[in-house]
Amino acid sequence: MSGSGTGYTSPMHESRLTLARPDDWHLHLRDDALMAAVLPHTARRFARAIVMPNLKPPVTTVEQAGAYRQRILDALPGGMRFEPLMTLYLTESTHPDEIARACDSGFVHAVKYYPAGATTNADSGVRDLRRCHPVLEAMQERGLPLLMHGEVTDPGVDVFDREAVFIDRHLTALRRDYPALRMVLEHITTREAAQFIAESPSHVGATITPQHLLMNRNAIFIGGLRPHHYCLPVLKREVHRKALLAAATGGDPHFFLGTDSAPHPRQAKESACGCAGIFSAHAAIEFYAEAFEQAGALGHLEAFASHHGADFYGLPRNRDTLTLKRKTWTVANELDFGGVPGVPLHAGKSLTWALDDATHP
Ligand code: DOR
Ligand code: ZN
Repeated sequence: MSGSGTGYTSPMHESRLTLARPDDWHLHLRDDALMAAVLPHTARRFARAIVMPNLKPPVTTVEQAGAYRQRILDALPGGMRFEPLMTLYLTESTHPDEIARACDSGFVHAVKYYPAGATTNADSGVRDLRRCHPVLEAMQERGLPLLMHGEVTDPGVDVFDREAVFIDRHLTALRRDYPALRMVLEHITTREAAQFIAESPSHVGATITPQHLLMNRNAIFIGGLRPHHYCLPVLKREVHRKALLAAATGGDPHFFLGTDSAPHPRQAKESACGCAGIFSAHAAIEFYAEAFEQAGALGHLEAFASHHGADFYGLPRNRDTLTLKRKTWTVANELDFGGVPGVPLHAGKSLTWALDDATHP
């Protein structure tokens, strides 16, 4: 492999794969009982995660982010180590002073931009980004990254085109007008997004989810409507999945791991108006290993999962490791989401990589 790895040698035949411990650069943990139920899945695999602020009400201040961080740490089972990297939810009333407080806090690492109404709990998001100019200036000045849900919400735009139109209408101007602003286009889903990011300077990056590497939009309609394959941005055509796989596995430091694992109770998904979000934390790194192996690029998994994100955020790479072993195992049909059932990605199906950990199923 590329020489930077900690223990991986032969892509085809190895039965174990050791990586510097990965981080998840885009995660929804929610709160209360649901958070307590999903957090251990992430903490078993990842050292750190960028925690999304789309709670109800949203996490808009450093004070709220600090309290949320403490609730996460309090919910962590004894003996588990995990560092939540907090974010603020950008609104049109966010004050530039909040950016200064965020940078001084040591625990807020980014600001999340949801176009108003774009997705789950995005109603307090931004209608007109021009109103956030002083905040973006402050972020650019202080080097605090802007994480973007990159979709337009204009009902006249086809749902499958919303990311590509966001790039044309907003992102191109944003990159031009704030040339030093650190930006992450989250959960990219299209060839256009992968190309835009690959051509951007190194302070503009993107996260890629496991579902967008493993599935195309047919997965939403296999033999009937599949609400557990519905997320936003929605899955796209195969040509886009292939472009994302090439971007993720190609060793380009613009691209890094961000699961967008987003738990919703089974009932909220299996509904006349089902919620957007796919839960993948129960097998997140295993899914990526599956995707990278399909692409014949297991040797590049460590860079994508454990190096590029830390480098982008200016944080040290993890010094401990995580080992996967080649072993077929079956994902549970259902998981506990804090007293209610939830359906994990790939429920009831088998995977070929498992955590090398005696307690793993
Ligand atoms: O599918 C999604 N679910 N996309 C998002 O952007 C938000 C997330 C959630 O919070 O459920
Ligand atoms: Zn998300």
